[in-house]
Amino acid sequence: MTTDRPTSDWNATSYDRVADPQTRWGAEVLERLPLAGDEVVLDAGCGTGRVTELLLDRLPQGRVVALDASAAMLAEARGRLARFGDQVEFVQADLGQPLPLAPPVDAILSTATFHWVPDHDALFANLAPVLRPGGWLVAQCGGFGNIARFIEVAASVDPNFRRNRHNFQTPEATTARLEANGFTDIETWLSPAPTPFERGAELEAFLATVCLRVHLSGLEPDEREPFVHAVAERMSEPVLDYVRLNIVARRAGDLPRP
Ligand SMILES: C[S@@+](CC[C@H](N)C(=O)[O-])C[C@H]1O[C@@H](n2cnc3c(N)ncnc32)[C@H](O)[C@@H]1O
Repeated sequence: MTTDRPTSDWNATSYDRVADPQTRWGAEVLERLPLAGDEVVLDAGCGTGRVTELLLDRLPQGRVVALDASAAMLAEARGRLARFGDQVEFVQADLGQPLPLAPPVDAILSTATFHWVPDHDALFANLAPVLRPGGWLVAQCGGFGNIARFIEVAASVDPNFRRNRHNFQTPEATTARLEANGFTDIETWLSPAPTPFERGAELEAFLATVCLRVHLSGLEPDEREPFVHAVAERMSEPVLDYVRLNIVARRAGDLPRP
């Protein structure tokens, strides 16, 4: 039976274990962020901090604001990032709401997060004022067409599976939203990232923790594992048809860093 329960929190321990694809993508995205090493950078949707850790390695004299809506994710990130001491500030906040950050940060990095935020007009309206003029926003999230084949497989196993659970946007709509919210020098593009898994435990743990997480929260506990297994079995090959939306932009205005 499927109910309309609100989204459950993440299983942060499991996410930390299975998030190799997200960490790999995050490392590539991080390379696009120009850094001198002494900036303050917001990691918007830091999760368990695996990408945040790579970011901190590039900021020997800088700091990171590690922001996430999930208490479980932030708890895991605190453990992983403890060695960085007061170089990291943890903030629990919703990117869909005005952000409790002051003063503005020098840059924003965000990986594998924006597609979980239902309203991207609000998202960019909330990010702009916490970024200093001239500062970079470098991000990647699920984009238009992301896991479309996989979603059809899941829906073929359970007709109650909601296809439009995520906010997978096009580059064109994203560019328009960024412009409307005071960003400039905007580049947005899609990149296919088909991701293979080992059939069995590896694939099923990933599906349960990431792709099927919200749907599972609406199932009875004893229905969850059989559903994940049935979906995994129905996939013609153990490959998730990921498509990433990449974003590089600067906040308008060219104020020098103080
Ligand atoms: C797939 S994880 C990505 C974590 C990390 N950036 C990475 O690449 O591994 C998505 C994260 O976005 C966070 N998130 C989802 N919606 C959010 C929102 N509205 N505001 C803040 N964080 C949100 C989740 O709690 C989760 O930690």
